[in-house]
Amino acid sequence: MKEYKRYLVTSALPYANGPVHIGHLAGVYIPSDIYVRYLRKRGRDVIWVCGSDEHGVPITIKARREGVSPQAIVDKYHKIIKDSFAGLGISFDIYSRTTSPVHERTASDFFRKLYDKGEFTEETTMQYYDEEAGIFLADRYITGTCPKCGNDGAYGDQCEKCGSTLNATDLINPRSTVSGTQPVLRETKHWYLPLDRHEAFLRGWILDEHKEWKPNVYGQCKSWLDGGLQPRAVSRDLDWGIPVPVEGAEGKVLYVWFDAPIGYISATKELTPDWEKYWKSEDTRLIHFIGKDNIVFHCIVFPAMLKAHGEYILPDNVPANEFLNLEGEKISTSRNWAIWLNEYLEDMPGKQDVLRYVLTANAPETKDNDFTWKEYQARNNNELVAVLGNFVNRALVLTGKYFDGIVPATQELTDYDRDTLAELPRLRASLENNIEQFHFREALKDAMGFARLGNKYLADTEPWKVIKSDPDRVATILNIALQITANTAIAIEPFMPFSAEKMWRMLNLEPLGWEMLGRADLLAPAHRIGKPELLFEKIEDEVIDRQLRKLEATKAANAAANATVDPQKEAVSFEDFQKMDIRVARIIAAEKVAKTKKLLKLTIDTGIDTRVIVSGIAEHYTPEELIGRQVLVLVNLAPRELKGIESCGMILMASDPTGKLMLLGPNGEVKNGSTVG
Ligand code: MF3
Ligand code: ZN
Repeated sequence: MKEYKRYLVTSALPYANGPVHIGHLAGVYIPSDIYVRYLRKRGRDVIWVCGSDEHGVPITIKARREGVSPQAIVDKYHKIIKDSFAGLGISFDIYSRTTSPVHERTASDFFRKLYDKGEFTEETTMQYYDEEAGIFLADRYITGTCPKCGNDGAYGDQCEKCGSTLNATDLINPRSTVSGTQPVLRETKHWYLPLDRHEAFLRGWILDEHKEWKPNVYGQCKSWLDGGLQPRAVSRDLDWGIPVPVEGAEGKVLYVWFDAPIGYISATKELTPDWEKYWKSEDTRLIHFIGKDNIVFHCIVFPAMLKAHGEYILPDNVPANEFLNLEGEKISTSRNWAIWLNEYLEDMPGKQDVLRYVLTANAPETKDNDFTWKEYQARNNNELVAVLGNFVNRALVLTGKYFDGIVPATQELTDYDRDTLAELPRLRASLENNIEQFHFREALKDAMGFARLGNKYLADTEPWKVIKSDPDRVATILNIALQITANTAIAIEPFMPFSAEKMWRMLNLEPLGWEMLGRADLLAPAHRIGKPELLFEKIEDEVIDRQLRKLEATKAANAAANATVDPQKEAVSFEDFQKMDIRVARIIAAEKVAKTKKLLKLTIDTGIDTRVIVSGIAEHYTPEELIGRQVLVLVNLAPRELKGIESCGMILMASDPTGKLMLLGPNGEVKNGSTVG
């Protein structure tokens, strides 16, 4: 493999239209943080850039819905995202944003350069325009009837019912989702990047020269290339974005996927005056960390842009991950089905490394994976507490107890000691190899392997038993256990930096460099260690249950939002309505009707009389909850028999379209028998 002098690492710029969630973290930000922390610890010349992606149609739509400016939306989420990344220890060298002046100039100059070189084509097409909102409509903002299957909710680019790919102009009876009105076709001119011109180059560069890319990435590129590349529009009709810097382009901005990846370059410029060294030298290894939905943009479109420009290097690797699901369902920003990083940090203070650990151990590296809170709890309790925490704690506590916190010198080593120590460099080699191949799950197993090794060593040598008969032997055992502890601290640092920091404090050492990993002389005899602290604590069921209830509430809210209410019934006359005799009444006794699930027998005081009503609310209220409550009753409903009980009247209830029932009553005490109307 080629020897590189320096690394330039990028992570996909998250859209500033919502906070980041565990799917983003597992797919992009945690793996890249591990990789960069590892490179830094090895002393490599590396910079890592990221920032908020602040342009694009969804941001303008959200702003319109909330009645604020797009700038207000991106300001809000840029801050939330930036702060929460910092809270999780995601250690970018810079976290910038695409509304920064440096970026606007860089992206604009980039476009102008391609334009001047004749790298674009121009085309005039007809597009849907919303006359009420005064905007051209992106495909996703047009709905109508699918010409293939008749589904009334098809989008301008796709019918989700029958799966057909559509053009907005194919839709029957199109409507704008922005204003609800019928859009009209208008002529508009745009600039296109003719990807077809770069096809031969891209085929050779990817399919021949980058066979080492992950199979999911290589495969997606191959299928795009085999399908034949088409010109792609790089401008849009929109009033939010970077203006197209040419004559006759009023009201047009750069397409968000044109400007955003240039954000990697702008962020580097903002970070260092030396930015050209990173972007324009073949000695730099450029690596893009992304999710699978970004593959085409990073492997085909952006490289074609860079190539067309001519001054920039291309990525050497694009380790894209698959998707993470949450409790068996696709994560969704619009359905609020996610664990948001900012909320996690608030709900689970001090548990950054637990999330980093679980999302790495279960990362969607080769296929989609599922996050469940139960697995989170199990990994914390059975791996972080029982293996890592337990080992470190035993090594330190026993040293405190038997040697006053002073590292003892080794005496003679046994074969078992030597075998154990020989594992250290072996684990190191495997760990390095896995990180360099972007196999972070396996790498994490290697890092935890140091703690497992230590745990096993203590369990096998049993210093707590040996101490009575042979204290010299215990000196050797604890020296070795402490050497393994220091090795563990180095190894876990890229994955769990907060815990590593605690471990260095407990060992009373400045963090050791990667070159020390695998050695058995990290702590000198007579060194005084620090005070043992708990690295991890057990997570109880109630903590997990609270998170599960939060997700349940989201589900219920979604069900309620999606449920449609019944249409209005036929008109009735005032006289007909007046025939209903509705009264306030109090429930004075309630009991289940035997052999039924739904029915309760209620005794009520209507103010007129005391009577029995059978009501189907047993699945919604317990008898105890009901006794004493005032409710509304239709008292002149003709009596009828239910399960052998005569029911005289009807208790009025609201029934939610999701099936929830709720009793109605006066807003304060009134006399039983009060009329309603
Ligand atoms: N905002 C995009 C997304 O979340 C990623 C942009 S990556 C960049 O899918 F390269 F364009 F910056
Ligand atoms: Zn269809």
